[in-house]
Amino acid sequence: MKLNYLHAHIDRSELLSISRHLKEALSWLRELVEKKEVGFTELPFSSTEHIKALVEKKRRFTDTLVLIGIGGSSLGAECLINAVKGRCSSFFVLDNADPDKFASVISSIDLRRCCFNVVSKSGSTAETIANFMALIEAAKDKMGWEELKKRLVITTDPEKGSLRELCQKESIDSLSVPPNVAGRYSVLSDVGLFPAEYMGVNTDKTLNGAKKAHKDTFKDAPLENPALLIAGIHWLSYLKGKTISVMMPYSERLSLFADWFRQLWAESLGKGGRGQTPVKALGTVDQHSQIQLYNDGPKDKIITLISVEKADVDFKMGDVFEELESFSYLRGHTLKELFDAELSGTMGAFVKYGVPFIHISIERLDEESMGYLFFTYEMATAVSGFLYGINPFDQPAVEEGKRFAYGLLGRPGFEEKRKELEGLISTT
Ligand code: PA5
Repeated sequence: MKLNYLHAHIDRSELLSISRHLKEALSWLRELVEKKEVGFTELPFSSTEHIKALVEKKRRFTDTLVLIGIGGSSLGAECLINAVKGRCSSFFVLDNADPDKFASVISSIDLRRCCFNVVSKSGSTAETIANFMALIEAAKDKMGWEELKKRLVITTDPEKGSLRELCQKESIDSLSVPPNVAGRYSVLSDVGLFPAEYMGVNTDKTLNGAKKAHKDTFKDAPLENPALLIAGIHWLSYLKGKTISVMMPYSERLSLFADWFRQLWAESLGKGGRGQTPVKALGTVDQHSQIQLYNDGPKDKIITLISVEKADVDFKMGDVFEELESFSYLRGHTLKELFDAELSGTMGAFVKYGVPFIHISIERLDEESMGYLFFTYEMATAVSGFLYGINPFDQPAVEEGKRFAYGLLGRPGFEEKRKELEGLISTT
């Protein structure tokens, strides 16, 4: 992975001026890891043998994966699979509690050929449990509970929570989310690796990439450490009024990386009145939608462009339309050449309009580069938390809305929340 920050409007001397804080952030993180309060940094060194064994067991009688989970329990796996394998017709995600989505998934699959991976660290997220329960109901006519159970893999806390209780009571195959790994930092745990391995992603190679990133992102020299660079540049930009961070990969297969990043950056750093709003964009599509604003709107953004040097496939444009002079510049070129030219064009325009950006370029889009990217961004986020003076591993403000919804649905213990909600908004 190469990181070019020449046009970030942050120079070396500014970065070096905060190098003491950046080093302190690493020491703070090392200490949390030593005390076992933070666990994501240990994930690259995990074994994948138990995951491979479980995939092999389920693959004997299933060929489709339905992942039931939301947020940190689905985005990482979805992103990894999409980045390495592209869109897969045998992989579905039930994250939203939208009945239309449930209907479209259920009508696209043969339930008896599916493996269902229910993922929830807490074991109680309403959307996940609701989709799981709706699945049991929808499968009723096709197979009984015993047959459905054979197709289940539940990924949850190793000891606590209702899903763990269910696994123990019903002897359901299960995997674990380490208690010291927050959901959005869990892609390199069983949470992301089981779905990925099932879909044919080489999870050992993914962890190898993450191991390389571990080595690089614990280096004390800020200019040689990509996580410190990302964190430092974004922090300094924030201090200069760049309150929005746009993630714009020039790669369809990396489009979900922007979704994954969006959650990581928002939920980890949006605290105590601070934080940078992450925005998802996609090159070149959003050149035709967002770039007008980025170039000529308020100068409140720092943009990250990600591109892939070597495409796995490419297509030449036909030697046609000789009579149309305005098309002739395209003849003989490939789609990748156009893609790269558009990226260079965007960078040139950013420089001209004074829009700060960093450019991350990865040689190939594969398991290793994804492992490297995930880990580097997790480290950058954790370090940013230290710079912001907030805890990047919790999400207290997410809970309030959930508590109101529980009250509304009559969950015992949340009666007062229902009353409070009725006082705040009309629920009828
Ligand atoms: O990062 C987080 O902790 C959250 O986004 C969770 O991943 C998300 O809310 C899902 O939670 P759970 O895995 O407990 O179902």
